[in-house]
Amino acid sequence: MCGIVGYVGAQSALDVVVAGLKRLEYRGYDSAGVAVLADGGLAAAKKAGKLINLEKELKDRPLPTGSTGIGHTRWATHGGPTDTNAHPHLDNAGRVAVVHNGIIENFAALRAELEERGHELSSETDTEVVAHLLAEEFSSCADLAEAMRLVCRRLEGAFTLVATHADQPDVVVGARRNSPLVVGVGEGEAFLASDVAAFIAHTRSAVELGQDQVVELRRDRVTVTGFDGSPAEVRAYHVDWDASAAEKGGYDYFMLKEIAEQPKAVADTLLGRIDAGGSLTLDEVRIDDSELREIDKVVIVACGTAFHAGMIAKYAIEHWTRLPCEVELASEFRYRDPILGGQSLVIAISQSGETMDTLMALRHAREQGSRVLAICNTNGSTIPRESDAVLYTHAGPEVAVASTKAFLTQLVACYLVALYLGQVRGTKWGDEIRAVIRDLSGISAAVDRVLETMEPVRALARSLADKDTVLFLGRHVGYPVALEGALKLKELAYMHAEGFAAGELKHGPIALIEEDLPVVVLVPSPRGRSVLHDKIVSNIQEIRARGARTIVIAEEGDEAVAPYADHLVRIPATPTLLQPLVATVPLQVFACELATARGNEVDQPRNLAKSVTVE
Ligand code: G6P
Repeated sequence: MCGIVGYVGAQSALDVVVAGLKRLEYRGYDSAGVAVLADGGLAAAKKAGKLINLEKELKDRPLPTGSTGIGHTRWATHGGPTDTNAHPHLDNAGRVAVVHNGIIENFAALRAELEERGHELSSETDTEVVAHLLAEEFSSCADLAEAMRLVCRRLEGAFTLVATHADQPDVVVGARRNSPLVVGVGEGEAFLASDVAAFIAHTRSAVELGQDQVVELRRDRVTVTGFDGSPAEVRAYHVDWDASAAEKGGYDYFMLKEIAEQPKAVADTLLGRIDAGGSLTLDEVRIDDSELREIDKVVIVACGTAFHAGMIAKYAIEHWTRLPCEVELASEFRYRDPILGGQSLVIAISQSGETMDTLMALRHAREQGSRVLAICNTNGSTIPRESDAVLYTHAGPEVAVASTKAFLTQLVACYLVALYLGQVRGTKWGDEIRAVIRDLSGISAAVDRVLETMEPVRALARSLADKDTVLFLGRHVGYPVALEGALKLKELAYMHAEGFAAGELKHGPIALIEEDLPVVVLVPSPRGRSVLHDKIVSNIQEIRARGARTIVIAEEGDEAVAPYADHLVRIPATPTLLQPLVATVPLQVFACELATARGNEVDQPRNLAKSVTVE
């Protein structure tokens, strides 16, 4: 986590860097800082709290104007969120400044060594050692890129580092290992950032950095080398979204905008993947069909909301392909010695493509000889780069920390993968696939319809603002939707929210039901497997009999549930397996409105970060 920006060019570095940090604030927001090179020296400012505190500081005590600078927005790991621990960190002479994302695991040993040589370190961070080490190396080689390579060879852990030195005023240097960093190349200017959103207003031309690489940025040149100094190939790509996609566009919060963008995001993820005959073409899946035919099990790894997408995918994959499918939290996966082999297909789902737990899980899978397919929203990020194949979700940039449109598009991508497996393995007939594709193509309009009818859900959310607990119940694919609804509420409203499989209710959770406790129930379609529907209707009756206030999410025309619903939220009819695509939307709106009513920060909930690049 943490957001990093670096700039060298002709504009005011401070303006570019602060604007970039605003775009990256979702990555961490407990402190922020900047450094600029000006008048032969280096000037820095940093402040605990949100970026706005830093902006105020810069207004009260302006820094000199320069055209080379770096900046950072932090999500604390080592050392609390204080002014001193905020980045950048400087050496004792104040000539070098460094910002960092990740964890330097051997920092304690390096710190002791530096202190022995007379360095005075003032923060509790692991980062500060890098500033001191860079200063030492620079004093002998007078080349910041070379100093960075030498220092990186001594570091253990995961890191993105960006540094600048007063004695090399037109240079910014970056390095990455297991942590994201992208280069933006403009006319007579260049950028470094954790995410392209930071520089998209200036250029859409980007360069991917590989693992263990150092990049030297000058106005007219970008040079990439390995940590050992060997020249590296510069891999350029074009960013296919523009600055407006990363703006709030008139909404109060990014989350509201992203919820509203879901119909388009869902449609975009389907775009170009269905041929004239209605069959699937997944060009980005580069695993040979013959290999896919040999697969004997599917394992999905992911975290947070993406994990819930994986749980739903399991139902579709097993139903459509008859392949066994396991879903596992990425953070647990590799530590239990999972049984994997050359015939296992591992699917890693990640919006950011940088989640460390998921990355480690996929590396483990590849070490076991398994093929890895990434489902990802961020072009050029690490997870797709390290996978055998990738299916991009075309949700566009997702800025709000709580995931919405990325989730829906992950689901679409999972359905596509499941159908594709069914197609190549011959477990699904062409006309069956075409029928599902037709249903999927109608989802965009269905989500639109849900969004048009959300006012009562918002009013209900406001009326529950003083509640402490909300429970969510679902069966079949409704169960992961219940988990996702509860997660949204925890993340945004800081409420105690739990999702349960409705059938488990009687095995314990029913003891939680008390008078007026809000319980959201996801009702499967009565047109599908009616046994599921009937069972959940009984569950609703059970909780209502014990005093629960039932908030029932049911498809249009389902009259059987109406007598037991204190609040009835209607969603368009969809096939059972696809229902999560519409059923999740009211839960997102509900959580967002409750958070607003409770005065919480919707886009940047406390303690969270959008992209978690530490284990
Ligand atoms: C963080 C975010 C969640 C997200 C999870 C996985 O915890 O706060 O919203 O679902 O990471 O992120 P990914 O980028 O891998 O989908």
